[in-house]
Amino acid sequence: MIRVGIVGVTGYTGSELIRILIKHPNVRITGLFSRSAYNKPLKKVFPQFASKLNLICDKPLVDIISSKCDLVFLALPHTASMDMGAGLIKAGVRVIDLSADYRIKDLKVYSKFYALRHKDPQGVKKAVYGLTELFSEEIKKAQLVANPGCYPTAAILSLAPLVSLGIADLSTIVIDAKSGVSGAGRKKAEEFLLNKEKDDFKAYKVGVHQHTPEINQELSFLAGDEVNVTFVPHLLPIYRGILETIYLKKRKKYADKDIIGVYKKFYRRKPFVRIRKVGVFPSIKDVVNTNFCDIGIKDLGDSIIIVSAIDNLIKGASGQAVENMNIMYGFPETSGLI
Ligand SMILES: NC(=O)c1ccc[n+]([C@@H]2O[C@H](COP(=O)([O-])OP(=O)(O)OC[C@H]3O[C@@H](n4cnc5c(N)ncnc54)[C@H](OP(=O)(O)O)[C@@H]3O)[C@@H](O)[C@H]2O)c1
Repeated sequence: MIRVGIVGVTGYTGSELIRILIKHPNVRITGLFSRSAYNKPLKKVFPQFASKLNLICDKPLVDIISSKCDLVFLALPHTASMDMGAGLIKAGVRVIDLSADYRIKDLKVYSKFYALRHKDPQGVKKAVYGLTELFSEEIKKAQLVANPGCYPTAAILSLAPLVSLGIADLSTIVIDAKSGVSGAGRKKAEEFLLNKEKDDFKAYKVGVHQHTPEINQELSFLAGDEVNVTFVPHLLPIYRGILETIYLKKRKKYADKDIIGVYKKFYRRKPFVRIRKVGVFPSIKDVVNTNFCDIGIKDLGDSIIIVSAIDNLIKGASGQAVENMNIMYGFPETSGLI
């Protein structure tokens, strides 16, 4: 049994981690860390966990975390994670960070999109991008995993086969993405649900969303060439789930290629990617409360349309984080997740 902890337990991804890890057969939750719920029993914060996990929340301090845990999940806003990462690594704790702090390798790009100078460049160098379907060999050995963003998870899984096998015309990729309000974290989501966004649908951060460089970084790595996608996120008036519709041109020599066959082969040993049959496309309801990424593909000969769906809080955050932990410790990849 490894001893695991969660920092930022009162947030959406923190509480989702508790829910998943309580039932995980290979780990024990030995530490819960919170600024706002410090000294409170978990059952006072989340009554649904009463009699399942009787822990009192601790202060999120490196020495307390390292005395209680072998591995810790940082379910914190960006900037808060980078304040703790270096200390935890030095103390020998393995870290899975759910924020964006360790995802972007180019520190100038990080500063531009997150509006601050990075405080832990060494951690960024060390971190492994935790998209489990693509980087499991690196994840096995990692001490610090940068868990992918929610939009990038669906986008990169949707495009990886076409980009890495040279089928996509890299200059033509358009990602039209929609997310439920929980993608913005507990405080903002509660404001959205109470206010006017409740019965509305709109684009936001058009052309400037911080997940754009993350998607470009990983697709460029897979392509071995520069990729600059057009990415537009939208806010859906629902609680959870992401649906992305992605458009691109194929390179001419692949006009007759069996594209669904390519995806099935690419993901054949990947338990959480489900490729739909010809003419069948996923909806958000198909994946909510699961760790699956469902992908449907329409091949139009010279172009391709891909529709993918994930639960932003599970495959897009806490579920994928647990998958990363499973790989890091050699547990079955699906442990605690099916
Ligand atoms: N929501 C999603 O769908 C999603 C998907 C992928 C990735 N992420 C990323 O995962 C991280 C957590 O997201 P979330 O949705 O769980 O956010 P959240 O609901 O806003 O929770 C974040 C928690 O972090 C703690 N916190 C807040 N401000 C802090 C500060 N300045 N310093 C230290 N701790 C602070 C608080 O917990 P305590 O008071 O208990 O300490 C808070 O409840 C974010 O970086 C987010 O971008 C979220």
